[in-house]
Amino acid sequence: MEVLEKVKEQIKKFIEVCAYPKALELLDQLATGKMLRSKLIVKIAGVNEESIKLCAIVEMIHAASLLHDDVIDEAVTRRGKPSINALYSDKTSIMFGDILYSRAFTELSQMDKNIAYHISNSVTKLSIGEMMDVDLTDAFNSSYENYLIMIYNKTASLIEASARSAAILANLDEEKYASYGKNLGLAFQMIDDILDITQDEKTLGKPAMLDFVEGKVTIPYLYLYDRVEDKEYLKSLYKKELDEKELTWIKVQMQNTNALDDAIKEAKNIGLLAIDSIKDEKNSIELVNIMKAMIERDF
Ligand code: FPP
Ligand code: MG
Repeated sequence: MEVLEKVKEQIKKFIEVCAYPKALELLDQLATGKMLRSKLIVKIAGVNEESIKLCAIVEMIHAASLLHDDVIDEAVTRRGKPSINALYSDKTSIMFGDILYSRAFTELSQMDKNIAYHISNSVTKLSIGEMMDVDLTDAFNSSYENYLIMIYNKTASLIEASARSAAILANLDEEKYASYGKNLGLAFQMIDDILDITQDEKTLGKPAMLDFVEGKVTIPYLYLYDRVEDKEYLKSLYKKELDEKELTWIKVQMQNTNALDDAIKEAKNIGLLAIDSIKDEKNSIELVNIMKAMIERDF
């Protein structure tokens, strides 16, 4: 059986323990993503009973965080499919998130104590990151530092903890893999924020250029704000439904100031930092490939 299928089977087994059919029905409705965290874990720790359990735990935590995030963001789609809050209700999305999340923690409590510590600690960071993300939409944020702290917590911390935990399972140098995971996570979120501007609705599975409308000043916008002449005009477009002319203005300014290209460069540089942490490890080729596949794509 293909390894990601094994992870899905393991998640199903973990949910069957609840003996509540609706939980399995909801699990069936979840659109599966790229399973980046699982790919990373098995590349580091190999395929075995413990590593598959770790993958399932991390994917369940990730899915739970998205179920809550879709309620917070009032999202109607997830990965191109209707979200659980849209298909059922906000209540169902939150409660199913709680089931996934608590089942994951019960299983985590049975694992190595250091793994349990790092994974559970990263969930606090996820929650802080989500709160920061929401709070940063209150007013135009022009601080790159705030943005970086927020994306570290919201996205990179669970990837960092996953890579570290996989290294613990495989008796490898956990600091090197933690650093790889952290920088991979930062680059991943930056690229996600760049794709919001460069891709169309069909490719994204959600409306394009939505971040700025939703109050999110992501890395390309931070660079743009720093460089654009008419800062007040840019600010006047913040959290506004934009017409064609306004969207075009933003895109043209992104090109003219090199804000977009430099944001792509920054994401790639952080990707290279990730590669640098594990370059002397024996399984580094595949980890380098994961990173390369992420940063060498069409923007
Ligand atoms: C998606 O961000 C959201 C996250 C990566 C983290 C969300 C975390 C929580 C809700 C807290 C943790 C909660 C539990 C139950 C474990 P986004 O909105 O920028 O991305 P999107 O476009 O994919 O929605
Ligand atoms: Mg969201």
